[in-house]
Amino acid sequence: MSARIAPSLLAADFAHLGREVAEVQAAGADLLHLDIMDGCFVPNLTFGPLVVQQLAACCAIPLDAHLMVVDPDPLVGELAAAGVRRVAIHVEAARHLHLSLAGIRGRGMAAGIAINPATALCALSDALPFTDFVLVMSVNPGFGGQRFIPESIDKIGRLRAMCAGRDLDITVDGGVGPDNAAALVAAGATTLVAGSAIFGASDRGAAIAELRRCANGERP
Ligand code: DX5
Ligand code: ZN
Repeated sequence: MSARIAPSLLAADFAHLGREVAEVQAAGADLLHLDIMDGCFVPNLTFGPLVVQQLAACCAIPLDAHLMVVDPDPLVGELAAAGVRRVAIHVEAARHLHLSLAGIRGRGMAAGIAINPATALCALSDALPFTDFVLVMSVNPGFGGQRFIPESIDKIGRLRAMCAGRDLDITVDGGVGPDNAAALVAAGATTLVAGSAIFGASDRGAAIAELRRCANGERP
């Protein structure tokens, strides 16, 4: 199965969000990745459920929320009501990870755990039965356009081995582009989040197509 492509709206033109969403949707994006930041867990501040709700009204592909906030639980109900399909919370932020994941699943959404570059995979091991996907950060969270951390490829391979026999989605987020897509997929990634590699291109359709070709190993 080929990897799914999830454009990250963080790199889009915020003055024209509806147009930006329509463009990547028409270009065959599989998911729309929404980075929700609180200015506390990470130094950046983005948008919340109100904006997500309005985006949902003009977006037919599944919405994938990545919560970079110190207190994710209060957001979950509003995101579910807005029509979000997947929610990832950071293992570094969750105080009661099992409860938070159950709260996401209980509202009919897929529950994911996001993990920072220097957080050890063993922080996830006992939580894997309660999660539907893992979001491996390949940059430090907070900003788009950062340099990919190459050790993330090996980390994804080790995570894939940890969940052998299970059809767990491994999403990779940060600095993803045509130059590392094939290696990430070969290591076990099944969803590629890309912000600047897609929204930074003048032709978003061509950027998605190139990323897909690379993910399928069709290009060096
Ligand atoms: C960073 C965000 C990413 C970001 C990726 O904290 O989680 O989703 O938008 O952007 P690029 O692909 O530009 O690294
Ligand atoms: Zn993200």
